Amino acid sequence: MRRFVIFLLTAALLLTCGCAGPAGDGEDWEDDLIVVGVSQVGAESDWRVANSESIKAVFTEENGYRLLFEDAKQQQENQISAIRKFIQQKVDYIILMPISETGWDSVLQEARDAGIPVILVDRMIETEDDSLYTAHIGSDFREEAEMAVSWMEETYGTEPVNIIHLQGTLGSTAQIGRTAGLEDAVARHSNWTILTQLDGDFTQAKAYEVMCQYLAQERGVDIQVVYCENDNEAYGAIEALEEYGYTCGPEGVSVISFDATRTCLTLCLEQKIALAVECNPLLGELAEETIQTLEAGDTPEKHTYVEESCFTWQELTQEQIEARPY
Ligand code: AHR
Repeated sequence: MRRFVIFLLTAALLLTCGCAGPAGDGEDWEDDLIVVGVSQVGAESDWRVANSESIKAVFTEENGYRLLFEDAKQQQENQISAIRKFIQQKVDYIILMPISETGWDSVLQEARDAGIPVILVDRMIETEDDSLYTAHIGSDFREEAEMAVSWMEETYGTEPVNIIHLQGTLGSTAQIGRTAGLEDAVARHSNWTILTQLDGDFTQAKAYEVMCQYLAQERGVDIQVVYCENDNEAYGAIEALEEYGYTCGPEGVSVISFDATRTCLTLCLEQKIALAVECNPLLGELAEETIQTLEAGDTPEKHTYVEESCFTWQELTQEQIEARPY
């Protein structure tokens, strides 16, 4: 009887303080660490891997964090499930790298109802209610496209330019910005033609597959530029172009790539990639600063865009490549 009474008193105490509930009732975090749930898109590209590593490098126990990291394997429904799980686990913050811009309102409303700030990293979301996220840190993808467009204008002038456009994951901010920049420029330049738009899904394998299909159908088509919306697509495109007898380089097809990871820069120095537009994946520290701002009770910037530049083989050096952390 005495044991039973102690059991009842303990259970009542636990219920009152709201901790150590059963599964689904929130985790019992027995330390002072700040709990951060991260929903990452996947591992589709070298950029993405570098981005995940930069997050994992800062949200460590030594720095005062417990990191719950979920890889969504390129599926939005997995990201939505991860966010719901983080809410159940009563995390302190959610970091979301949204795969696409739309479809987030309900789940972010749930996070807000639970009082959990959501920080968007990398891409943006489309919503009428921008209070659904606390801050956004990422790239200005449209500005990246403008760098590519300026290079094409300087390189080709009034000559005819036939372009193959390899798009990234349709509906993602990176695809939307990079596509809009190119399409607007094509509308302004009567000498520029988009021969085809292919969905490369930001992966090497898909880019190679769709490029091979196109080149097999349109044997010997005249191509000046292949505009690849990320590095991995550029690798797949180069492989396909070379298999179909094209030369990538100053005397042949100009391959334009976005990200500018080390492998891409090496290909640029070898002149196979004509232009590498930088997209900085090292966003972990900025995400951590945002959380520290919130911890201090201050309001972080709503949007932070990282500075980026671009590289051509004429100016690139081996030292720059070696200094590249990703
Ligand atoms: O959103 C950033 C883009 O997503 C990068 O350019 C690409 O490599 C990644 O998969």
